[in-house]
Parts: sequence; C-alpha cells; structure tokens
Amino acid sequence: MIPVITIDGPSGSGKGTISQLVAECLGWNLLDSGAIYRVLGLAAERAGISAEQAAELTKLARELNLNFHAGKVLLDNEDISHLIRTEAAGNAASKVAVVPQVRAALLDWQRAYAKAPGLVADGRDMGTVVFPDAKIKIFLTASAEERALRRYKQLKEKGLNANLLSLVSEIQERDDRDQNRSVAPLKAPAAALNIESTSLSIDEVLELVLDRVQKIYPKLDISAPK
Ligand code: DC
Repeated sequence: MIPVITIDGPSGSGKGTISQLVAECLGWNLLDSGAIYRVLGLAAERAGISAEQAAELTKLARELNLNFHAGKVLLDNEDISHLIRTEAAGNAASKVAVVPQVRAALLDWQRAYAKAPGLVADGRDMGTVVFPDAKIKIFLTASAEERALRRYKQLKEKGLNANLLSLVSEIQERDDRDQNRSVAPLKAPAAALNIESTSLSIDEVLELVLDRVQKIYPKLDISAPK
C-alpha cells in the first residue's frame, strides 16, 4: 500500500501551496487534480465543447494528452501552465467537473499517481472518492473574503488587474457549484483533520499538517521546506 495524504478544500484555501510544501518535506509525489480539470476546461473551450455536451466532454477527458513535466503542465506538448491559472480557467474547470462521466473517466488516471514513496493529493474529492483509504486526510478552509483577499494580492503582485468584490462573488459562485454537484461534491471527508486557516499563516498550517503526519508515520523522515 502506497501511503497517501489527501488535502481537500475550496478554491483559494491554500491547499495548493500546502500540498506542494508537504510533498517537498516528505520527498513524495504530488497530484494537483485541479490542474487536470483546468486543462480539460481549456481543451473543451478550444474544441468548442460546452459543459452540457457530456458525451463529447467525456471522450475529450479520456483522450486528453496531458503531461506534468518539470513543474510545467503540457497539453499536446504545448506549455499551458500559465493559461490554466486564470480565474476564467478555474471557472471553466469547475463547470466541466460537474459532469459525472467526466469524473469517472479521470479516476484511474488520478489513482495512478499513487507511486512510491508516497503521494500528496490536492483537490476537492481526494479523501472522499479518489483515495478513500488514505490514512491522512486534511480539509483546509478559510472564509470566502479571506480567500478572495489572498487571490487579490497574488494578482496584484503579478501586476494584473483585480477587483476584490468580484473575486468574492466568483469564489462564492464556484464554492456553490463545487459543493452542490451531484457527484463527488466538495465536503470534509470523515475523520479528516479540519483546518480553518482564515487567521493562520502558511507556516502554521504546514506545522499542523506535519504534526499529523509525524503522529501517523512516526518513522518518516521529514525535512524542512526549501
Ligand atoms: O483546485 P483548483 O482551483 O485548481 O480546481 C479548479 C476546479 O476544478 C474546481 O473549482 C473544481 C474542480 N475540481 C474538482 O471538481 N475536483 C478536484 N479533485 C479538483 C478540482
């Protein structure tokens, strides 16, 4: 059995950053499942397929030529790492992710990431559906206002235009869609460690997660983040 740590939560909760740091500290593999849905959203847009066309979308998901390589996301060998990080790409991802057949088509693909020495899996349904047997499950949240503020700062740092109020309403809309879809909705897995990070720093969240890891796997070598 390959050890798996699942880190689920709403968009902007910091789970991407935390998952990356935890994977680094342990020397484990990392699955950014949101990136898969983001790439599918982009591929669908390019192919002119809407979220309502379930059969076409499922075919696209099965045939997706997606690779993660050296920190880059490649679609048909084109580096699309930056294209999938926009708010629009996140919304497109959330729409294609509603389709049950699409989610089913991506299950084995995601599970194949569980390779030695271990996997940190970041997403919405990692602990509930994709890796239900994971020994460590984290559910990371923060208020919608705080998450919008974090996103606002990120965008400003990149010199991009941002409007805080519209970010709050986009985040709420995405939460609503992710939490209320019929298959694999965003929710805390049973027995998850729930971390409410509104007033916590990244280091504080990381420490809580690594404490849990140390308790469950006492023999594991945990190095400091780079
Ligand atoms: O984590 P993220 O913001 O990159 O995810 C983008 C969207 O993809 C998210 O709004 C919903 C969907 N998603 C999902 O349905 N299941 C996952 N395991 C990961 C992401």
